[in-house]
Amino acid sequence: MYQMTNKYMHFIANWKMFGGLNSLNSLNKVLKFFKTFKKNKFTKIVYCPPNTLIQAMSKKLANSQIKVGAQNCHAADNYGAFTGSVNSFMLKNVGAQYVIIGHSENREIGETDKIINLKIKSALKCGLKIIFCIGETLQERKKKITKKVLNKQISLGLSRIKDNKNVLIAYEPIWSIGTGMIPNPKELFEVINFIKKKNKNYKVIYGGSVSPKNINQLKLIDNIDGYLIGGASQDPNKFIDIIKKSYI
Ligand code: 13P
Repeated sequence: MYQMTNKYMHFIANWKMFGGLNSLNSLNKVLKFFKTFKKNKFTKIVYCPPNTLIQAMSKKLANSQIKVGAQNCHAADNYGAFTGSVNSFMLKNVGAQYVIIGHSENREIGETDKIINLKIKSALKCGLKIIFCIGETLQERKKKITKKVLNKQISLGLSRIKDNKNVLIAYEPIWSIGTGMIPNPKELFEVINFIKKKNKNYKVIYGGSVSPKNINQLKLIDNIDGYLIGGASQDPNKFIDIIKKSYI
């Protein structure tokens, strides 16, 4: 259960609905840190700001190893009369290279597995990499149907998709998002293992209350390929701290 020192790790910052142009200043610290970070060859950092910041952030990070992603996209490949929506091609056009799809905060407001599947297909078509979110509710966990729920989300979400190079699975138990609670290490190891066994050669990251306080515990779970970080990613000091502490 111990993390290998030279393992490739992903650190995906999901800013959610936070941040204005001035928030981009916080990247200076991260850029400076990453230039001299000993493990930078084994580290992939992706920032997913609100759509309003994608272009400016891409410009700012253009000469760095840090990538930019979006937090959602429309499922259509073409332009259309979808007020308020943006498709993956439009996101790529302003600098996104990744997109988060299937986040529980969007599933909660009506995004179905079918829609998620269409979104992933469209985003892959235009060359974006996908951070595909899955996770169970507290009720489902209590009922001990976590694995069944995850299996269904994956088989429907990734229906007719076999692209373990460009799709990263993010396991985010809903009860751990923004609550400060994380699964116990044994349980988390088992769930990640289950996902990997069922979906060969996919990388699986963990999300839900990842912070400098619990990273020492999380990093001992050696089948995790990185983290999807919400709240803590808005603070460059916390984000840097998580990255530094992730390697033994
Ligand atoms: P928190 O890290 O704030 O719990 O959010 C997790 C998340 O939803 C990332 O996508």
